[in-house]
This record gives sequence, C-alpha cells and structure tokens, in this order.
Amino acid sequence: MSVMSDSYALITGASSGIGLEIANCLAEKGFNLILTARRENILEIASRDISEKYKVKVDFIASDLSDSSAPDQIFNFCVNKGYQVDILVNNAGYGIKTSFHETSMDEEEKFIRVLGIAVIAMTKIFLPDMIMRGSGKIMVVSSVAAFSPPSSIQALYGPIKTFMNRFSDSINMNYNHKGITSTAVCPGFTVTGFHTASGVQDEMDRVPKFMKFSAKRVALEAVEATLSGKSLCIPTKTYKILVFILKHIPQSVMSILGKGLAPGRYDKK
Ligand SMILES: NC(=O)c1ccc[n+]([C@@H]2O[C@H](COP(=O)([O-])OP(=O)(O)OC[C@H]3O[C@@H](n4cnc5c(N)ncnc54)[C@H](OP(=O)(O)O)[C@@H]3O)[C@@H](O)[C@H]2O)c1
Repeated sequence: MSVMSDSYALITGASSGIGLEIANCLAEKGFNLILTARRENILEIASRDISEKYKVKVDFIASDLSDSSAPDQIFNFCVNKGYQVDILVNNAGYGIKTSFHETSMDEEEKFIRVLGIAVIAMTKIFLPDMIMRGSGKIMVVSSVAAFSPPSSIQALYGPIKTFMNRFSDSINMNYNHKGITSTAVCPGFTVTGFHTASGVQDEMDRVPKFMKFSAKRVALEAVEATLSGKSLCIPTKTYKILVFILKHIPQSVMSILGKGLAPGRYDKK
C-alpha cells in the first residue's frame, strides 16, 4: 500500500503494548496516525514521541470503547479533522480475572462490547469510505486463544476471539473484490500491560520464556501481514506450530487438554 500525505491509520488500544508498537511500526513506514484509548495523558505523550521520531502527523482521541457511542465519536473526530482512514487497527482489549459465576452481567457485557461489538461497530462505520475509495486495510487483533481449549479465567475471552476471527474472515471474503482486506492477528503470550491490567500477571510470570514474545515482534509481523492483505497472521514460528497442532488434534484430545487447563488453574492457593 502506498503512503499518501492525507491518509491515516487509526489504532484502538494504542496507549500501550501491541497497539503502541503497531503505531510505531506504521509510523516508521510513513503512515500518519490517529491513536485512541482511554488514557488521554499517555496518548498525548505517545503522539508527541512518535511524530517527533518518525516525522509523521499523529493525533489522538481519548475514548472508552465500552461506551456504545465511542465508535461514532471517533468517526466524527476523524471527519471533522478531515482524516482519511485507510488502515483500521482494532486492537483494544483486556481480560477478566474473576470467574464467570462471580462477574456481573454488566462486566460481561462491557467485555463483549470492547472485544467484540466495538470491533464490529468500528469496522461498520469506517468501511463505507474505504469501499468508495476502492482500498482499505483492516486489522483485528485476536488471539491464539481463538484456537485453544477454553480457559478457566475469562470464559468469554476465547469465544469472542474465535468470533472475531470469523468476523475478520467474513469481511475479508465479502470486500476483497472492492479492494479491502481484513487480517485477523492471533498472538500468543506477549509481554505487555495486558496481564497486569487483567489481574493475571503472576500466571504470566510462570509462562516459560520460550513462549513469551515482545510486543514489537508481534507488531512487526502483524503490520507486514496486514499491509500485504493476508487473512490470518499468527506471529512467531512457535505459535504457528502450536496452532497447527491445535487445529489438527482430535476433539477428544482437545477436551483432555481443556480439562487439564481449566479447573482451578488460576485459583488462589
Ligand atoms: N498480551 C498478550 O499476551 C496477548 C495475547 C493475545 C492477544 N492479545 C490481544 O492483544 C490486544 C492488545 O493487548 P495488549 O497485550 O497490548 O494489552 P495492553 O498493553 O493492556 O493494551 C491494551 C490496550 O487496550 C486499551 N483498552 C482497554 N480497555 C479499553 C476500553 N474500554 N476502551 C478503549 N481502549 C481500551 C488500553 O488502553 P487504556 O487503558 O488507555 O484504555 C490499551 O491501550 C488485545 O486485544 C488482546 O486481547 C494479547
């Protein structure tokens, strides 16, 4: 994709981790950026740093994607400023540590909104202009959890990521002939603020080193795959092999694996 001076990449969850690294990676390639997340002060600092470092235009808008009006707010911000969004990165996300039976329905609905409905809403709202221009790239940051057995934490995390993979695939299939591609990016364990924010940092600390990768490494592969229009990106060889195995083992083995992973896995001793 060629970089035009008035074209922008919009990144959700750009205040830390994978989103921030995707922002850096796209800026290095010359794309102007619109960053969004809830923490305005961090977005402001990141915008200044990135624009100084890569000499691209960077703007930001603080927005909470658990609020149903957020996608409209972000879209109106772009329209009012005259920003043409050619790359949409749906990355914002978090996990819930509390077991499903202990969370409120409100917590689960917010979770589904941020990881699922907001992705659909952002895609829905930015897609028509991409169709009009005959080009556009969408990235959906999903997870290896989309292929793994269910986990005892975050009963809904894997199912939503599976849904998002299918959603991305469906957008890719339906709009490819109009010059638009959608890439589902499925990282494995990545060293970011995710595990602290989700209350599972202790568990992340116990994951063997060879299974943990930097956000920069994940972002580089994600951006390359998105710009080249791949439908699926599983960053790193380690996780490509793991997903290959997960896709090919019989359902009965998956169930055994699931049982081993599920009960009390993250319970406090
Ligand atoms: N880290 C991993 O091991 C891993 C593995 C597979 C997939 N992923 C996926 O990668 C994506 C990015 O996660 P990360 O690891 O980079 O975690 P992170 O460092 O915690 O970043 C999450 C980003 O999402 C934003 N966010 C969270 N809730 C939000 C809300 N309600 N509204 C708007 N923005 C919100 C956060 O910003 P604010 O707090 O400023 O709002 C932050 O910028 C997520 O979709 C996650 O599911 C992560």
